[in-house]
Amino acid sequence: MTTDGDTPHSIYAIEKWGMDLASVLPNGDLGLKNPLKENSPIVSLPKMVRDLEERGVHTPLVLRVSCFLQQGIQNINQGFAEAIARAGYKAPYRGVFPIKVNQQAQVVDRIVEFGRPYSFGLEAGSKPELVIALAHRLAKDALIVCNGVKDAEFIRLAILSRKLGFNTVIVLESPKELDTVLSVVDEIGEEPLLGVRVKLTNRISGNWAESSGDRSTFGMNTDQIVAVIDKLKDKGMLHCLKLQHSHLGSQIPDVNDVRRAVGEACRYFVELVGEGAPLTHLDLGGGLGVDYTGEKTASENSINYGVKEYCTNVVETVAYAMDEAGLEHPVLVTESGRATVATSSMLIFNVLEATLYDASSAPKPEEGDNHLVADLAAIDSYVVPERLQECINDANFYRNELRALFRRGYIGLRQMARAERIFLHLMGRIKLLAPPTGEMPEIDAHLEQLADIYHCNFSLFQSLPDVWAIDQLHPVVPLQKLNEAPDRRAVLSDITCDSDGKINRFILEDGISPSLPVHSLTEDEPYLLGVFFVGAYQETLGDLHNLFGDTNVATVELRDDGGFDLLHEQEGDTIAEVMSYVEYDPRDCVDAFRSIVDQAISEARLNTSERKMLMAAYRDSINGYTYYE
Ligand SMILES: Cc1ncc(COP(=O)(O)O)c(C=O)c1O
Repeated sequence: MTTDGDTPHSIYAIEKWGMDLASVLPNGDLGLKNPLKENSPIVSLPKMVRDLEERGVHTPLVLRVSCFLQQGIQNINQGFAEAIARAGYKAPYRGVFPIKVNQQAQVVDRIVEFGRPYSFGLEAGSKPELVIALAHRLAKDALIVCNGVKDAEFIRLAILSRKLGFNTVIVLESPKELDTVLSVVDEIGEEPLLGVRVKLTNRISGNWAESSGDRSTFGMNTDQIVAVIDKLKDKGMLHCLKLQHSHLGSQIPDVNDVRRAVGEACRYFVELVGEGAPLTHLDLGGGLGVDYTGEKTASENSINYGVKEYCTNVVETVAYAMDEAGLEHPVLVTESGRATVATSSMLIFNVLEATLYDASSAPKPEEGDNHLVADLAAIDSYVVPERLQECINDANFYRNELRALFRRGYIGLRQMARAERIFLHLMGRIKLLAPPTGEMPEIDAHLEQLADIYHCNFSLFQSLPDVWAIDQLHPVVPLQKLNEAPDRRAVLSDITCDSDGKINRFILEDGISPSLPVHSLTEDEPYLLGVFFVGAYQETLGDLHNLFGDTNVATVELRDDGGFDLLHEQEGDTIAEVMSYVEYDPRDCVDAFRSIVDQAISEARLNTSERKMLMAAYRDSINGYTYYE
């Protein structure tokens, strides 16, 4: 990251979370760089967006960067290879990518391609995901791990796929599932490769604590595991049990939680081998976190460790437990999703307009105005640094009184508008004189209420569902003017609904802030914002609130000459497509609209050229992008 001490952009903490991926160019553009190549040039993001726009790929758009994904795969595989070499561990690492984390074909295909040298496999949590996994040519030693609830069809396909050379493991989630496996085995006469999902009692901290511990929904407790072992023995099939799966959790903030949970998983492994199960693989599921805030702390959106430390902890803990029990080292499997893909995508959108909460000038009270308007205006004479709180108190008092009078009909619209504008002008002056954030919390709290609203061309529900659902934090940064001090603060509102469709928590240099420093909008220049690290979970969890559909997606590769190659373009949903998701047939809608138009013609409310224009406008809309164009 290039930073120049206290430059205008240091407020965005890009150097903390941006790692070796993002950097600011001298012209103030945010740029991306290839983390796999030393001294790679920085590719300007606004320039890239302009270029994509010229090619017809419009904002809002998800930008996937191929080398960022490659780095994700490389980090975890090399992290384990190095930890294994350092610890003298005697078995390899065979990671799998959980398809649920990003099911998009362009992502999964690339993961398979970049993962092939490492025999990286896939995890399928459902029948559709198994169908996707089996459409890929994986390396010979790569695994397909089947988790989740499975019916006979799922199990049949998983077992039969072994005939094609796939190492497909059916992870038993419950004793009942074993019954289904046994009946499929009876039916097709082929042996399965089995795993058993052991529920750990250790609870991790953080946002996903629920997915760990006694009350987590998947996996078996000790009693159920014993029942499964006994039944497998009884049926002469214990030799099929090769893998223990113990999902540690997701986004584990504290590396010591990892160590504890791995230790517990090892205890089960040792006991299961003691029971006669010929286990060869230990699968530790997900959990490796992403440092969304760059704070390097054990908090919900951060982690107090890196990939290398995670790998070292896992390898050392397993080696120690196996050596102590005198067992061979098992092949290590993890199902790291978030850490593999989160950084590879970003959401880019434009700001449509702003609602400002201050005013550069104020009208004078007019004759006949209520005296409270004059009282409000008089505050202007004592806006000085030492009386700011008093000014805020007075301004609020007079404005509230005037609003009450307006509501009761004692003052009219124009007088109220004058008062509101005087109030905003006072706030503008107070903002300029306010002490640095943190010095006077009362004033900070008040001024936060006066942050502008920047209305942005995206849907939180479609593109950033975790921001809405679980208060997930993502880095958000203007993509241009980063060499100019931001002169305003704003919350970001999307174009869906006016209550929840907002981003109002931002990662800044001095902590999490309820508003984002931004630049004033100008008439002729688009103002672009980027939300980073959205590659995990966001694309598929999104929904169709207000029928805003999938955004355009561009997969790019950064070039050595500072340019980029567009590897793939996926057009966002059209209005016709989102209509069909909610059971409308777009053709029926065209017909219905036409009949309304024709009725208007027969009643002489419309002429034929107006008919033509209306039908064209309706058809253009139905075939167009759901977002503001
Ligand atoms: C069984 C299983 N494996 C892997 C993952 C991926 O976890 P993460 O994205 O934290 O790596 C999950 C998600 O919670 C999961 O349930």
